[in-house]
Amino acid sequence: MGKLCALGVLISGSGTNLENITVEIEEGRLPASVAVVISDNPDAYGLVRARKHGLNAVFVDPASFPDRAAYDRELVRVLNENDVSLVVLAGYMRLVGPEFVEAFRDRIMNIHPALLPSFPGTSGVADALAYGVKVTGVTVHFVDEGLDTGPIILQEAVPVMSGDDEEVLHQRIHEVEYKLYPQAVRCFCEGRLRVEGRRVRILEEE
Ligand code: GRF
Repeated sequence: MGKLCALGVLISGSGTNLENITVEIEEGRLPASVAVVISDNPDAYGLVRARKHGLNAVFVDPASFPDRAAYDRELVRVLNENDVSLVVLAGYMRLVGPEFVEAFRDRIMNIHPALLPSFPGTSGVADALAYGVKVTGVTVHFVDEGLDTGPIILQEAVPVMSGDDEEVLHQRIHEVEYKLYPQAVRCFCEGRLRVEGRRVRILEEE
């Protein structure tokens, strides 16, 4: 199982989803291992969290590469060096380029703090709040060449309460993320996800 489910987690910031997935693994609820954590930001607190859990965590500096394609090639190299089966984007603020997507086709997941296709991009929580929706949510999806456009694996609604500010709403969303992301990763690790065009079919547990 271990090798089948080696995860490569990409982060840019706080890394609470990374830590949550790590704890799920440590406590035996998720049959996977975090083979490597990569950050594009040297100050990402997620690097500190990763090292606290004894994970292999590296900063790869985008400024050391001439362009995005070269940076992505380096990430693909590091992921392959660590025998990664599934790339988990967890608050990674950079677009993954076409070569990267091709190298890990249907093996890159992202979590988005809104119900896609509503409110894509980097400010999904603020945009939903500003729009005035009563319900937003969480989407876990495979990554394709577009911005938050890949086939959807899991979604769950989160209510917006009157009086919510961005922080309060994001916290409510985070609680759902901590449930949904490990669940999606588990389905992948158990070989239960089938991508059929835009749809992802989830096979029953044996
Ligand atoms: C999450 O809300 C996720 O949906 C979005 O970025 C945030 C990352 O949070 N893509 P954290 O770094 O895991 O705490």
